[in-house]
Order: sequence, then structure tokens, then C-alpha cells
Amino acid sequence: MRGANQSNVSEFLLLGLSRQPQQQQLLFVLFLSMYLATILGNLLILLAISMDSHLHIPMYFFLSNLSFVDICFSSTTVPKMLTNHLLGTQTISFSGCLTQMYFVFMFVDMDNFLLAVMAYDCFVALCHPLHYSTKMTHQLCALLVAGSWVIANLNVLLHTLLMAQLSFCGYNAIPHFFCDAMPLLKLSC
Ligand SMILES: *[C@@H]1O[C@H](CO)[C@@H](O)[C@H](O)[C@H]1NC(C)=O
Repeated sequence: MRGANQSNVSEFLLLGLSRQPQQQQLLFVLFLSMYLATILGNLLILLAISMDSHLHIPMYFFLSNLSFVDICFSSTTVPKMLTNHLLGTQTISFSGCLTQMYFVFMFVDMDNFLLAVMAYDCFVALCHPLHYSTKMTHQLCALLVAGSWVIANLNVLLHTLLMAQLSFCGYNAIPHFFCDAMPLLKLSC
């Protein structure tokens, strides 16, 4: 195994979901089509919301933010997996791995925060319908979205900095298709 007996590992191996070549072919086609469907679907949502002025209300602003985050989220993991398959390699550098982890968790956090913000928007619309337009102002919407970005970034920055302190030695293969936190923690020594 590459990297064995080294005190510090400079790259990891992403083993992917399967070791059998036929299954790998199938997974490649499956992931490629799911990725393209995700990108295309979310782009259409973004396009529809920006074109139609009836949709320029808070709910659709949040929905377009969610679509944007979803595009970014898929783009942090799937392209790396697909290019590794095409190039026939499995490696990812240590800094690449940490960067990937940073963005994966940031976009996951953002997804969750945006869903919470959308739930709050629904709550105000249903429970305080008469105050809706005075409460859900553009400023508040922008503040909620910006606050979500700031908190998600701080949270993930903290975890990534802690992760960067760990030392890795010996076996450096990640049995996953992207750098997830749990496999990395298991590999640290
Ligand atoms: C995200 O939401 C903000 C605030 O509601 C809005 O101004 C912005 O256009 C949205 N971003 C996208 C990419 O739709």
C-alpha cells in the first residue's frame, strides 16, 4: 500500500464505491447521469425564478439560493470521482482532501440552514399572514441568507482546522468516493 511506513501522508486514495470493474462502469454512468440531471434541473429552477417577476418573493429567493447551493454541493464531489475513474487513478492530495471536506460540509450546512429559513418563511406566512409583508422584508431575507453563509463557514472552518492538526500515517485509503470526516478520523493516528 502506497504511503505505508511514512510518518506523514501527502496523498490519500479514494477507493470509490466498488472494486469490480463492471460495477465501476455502471456506477460511472449512473453518477454521471445523476450529476447532469442535478445540474440541469437546478439551472432550470434558477432560470425560471430569475425570468418570471411573479416569482420574486422571499420563498423563491430562498429556493433559488437552495438550487445554487445544490449545484455547488454536487460539483464538489462527483466531478473528482468521475475524472479519477476516467484517468484510472484514485489519488487525492492531502490539501485537496481537506478542501473537498471543507466545501462538502459547508454546502451541507447551507442546505440545512436554508431549509430552516424556508420553514421560518412558511411559519410567518401561515401564522402571521397580515404581518407577512412587513416582517419578511428584503433586508431580513438577505440577512438570513448572509447569516447562514457566515455561520456555515465558521463552523466548517473550525472543524477543518482541527482536522488539519491530525497526523496520518500508514494506511491511507479512504473506502468512499469523497473525503468524508469519519473515514479520515479512522485513518488518523
Ligand atoms: C439568494 O437570496 C438573496 C436574498 O433573498 C437574493 O438577493 C439572491 O438573489 C439569492 N441568490 C440566488 C443565487 O438566487
